[in-house]
Amino acid sequence: MAAGSARDPLVARRAARIKEEDVSYRTKMLEIASGLSDVIAMGRGDPDFHTPAHIVEAAKRALDANEHHYTHPAGLAPLREAIADSLGREYGLSYDQDEVVVTAGVQESIMLCMLALIEAGDEVLITSPRFTTYDQAVEAFGGVPVPVPTHERDDFALMPAEIEARITPRSKVLVLVSPNNPTGAVTPPSVIREIAALAIRHDLIVISDEIYAALIYEGAEHLSIARVDGMRERTIVLNGFSKVYAMTGWRVGYLAAPKAFVRSIVDPRHMLSINTSTPSQFAALAALTGPQDAVTEMRNAYAQRRALLMRSMDALGLTYGFPGGAFYLYTNTSGTGMKAPEFCETLLREGRVLLFPGSLFGDDSDLYTRVSYLQPLHRIEEAMARFADVVERHRARA
Ligand SMILES: Cc1ncc(COP(=O)(O)O)c(C=O)c1O
Repeated sequence: MAAGSARDPLVARRAARIKEEDVSYRTKMLEIASGLSDVIAMGRGDPDFHTPAHIVEAAKRALDANEHHYTHPAGLAPLREAIADSLGREYGLSYDQDEVVVTAGVQESIMLCMLALIEAGDEVLITSPRFTTYDQAVEAFGGVPVPVPTHERDDFALMPAEIEARITPRSKVLVLVSPNNPTGAVTPPSVIREIAALAIRHDLIVISDEIYAALIYEGAEHLSIARVDGMRERTIVLNGFSKVYAMTGWRVGYLAAPKAFVRSIVDPRHMLSINTSTPSQFAALAALTGPQDAVTEMRNAYAQRRALLMRSMDALGLTYGFPGGAFYLYTNTSGTGMKAPEFCETLLREGRVLLFPGSLFGDDSDLYTRVSYLQPLHRIEEAMARFADVVERHRARA
């Protein structure tokens, strides 16, 4: 019997909520890449830097001190306190430690939020193009994801009119991701205030995913929507350590929300995985309370790489939305005469650079390609030389 066929007893009796995900494009690209040498991978969202040494040391010390038992499901008290402090210091947010839940990455916070909020038929408005975990989490609980498109002409900022046009009596939650993955867009403070007014007017809960908020570049400003008057009580702020501290594999993230809600989700959080890995929580504590020089260095390196990418795209005449934050550039590659999935495949075969098209981020326009700048500067230079060759060759033919 073929693995995964409908006659497989496990597959045959699987719950209807598990969809046959079409991973054929991504798999094909990875297979092509594995058959090539010297591929420059600029498709992933995983920092190329190592976790700073003092953070790694803190985890080792925790293990040596036998800190490998269960913790409170909401996380170690000193870590929750450090998170509350950092939310105040960095973003002007005011949370107590018992308004914070530490999770296995922001990924688990997303699942926990949907588990706690979504009833069958509830509609969830999501900034799009998007990190599609949101769709899957909403659908797992019978909710309906409603993508809210953003546009290059607005630098991919989420626009209130686009939200408003999709509000129905079933709209319950708005997912705001700023800075955004895959566009790098930062929704400006004035627009955040308008979105807040709209959320209040339509009685929406806001999940504000701020995982990239510490990676903001010149010309952009981050305002957490939870800071706007009247929003704290209807907002859940998500943030984490994966991107900013180069800690993807440690699996530490958190949510912050008013006390009564947080108290009510501690049990469901316990049900999911009891607690975030204990040594990882000690590492996260060291990340927040230790020196921040490494974060500054990484941010400066990203800024340099980003500037190089923007210059290269400008020289080629390819447009993009202003990437105010994160480590992505969302580039319009339609001038090559190819749809983005075809362009990415051609670039990989002919230029040995691995990028992913917008279709992997729920964008069916086929116009855009996401470039992540998680390679050293000299590799990005090499990648852009190869990219330019492929673009120019195909543009000449188009
Ligand atoms: C917008 C967004 N939210 C959440 C996550 C998940 O991050 P974590 O590693 O904290 O689970 C990602 C990862 O790429 C992301 O881009």
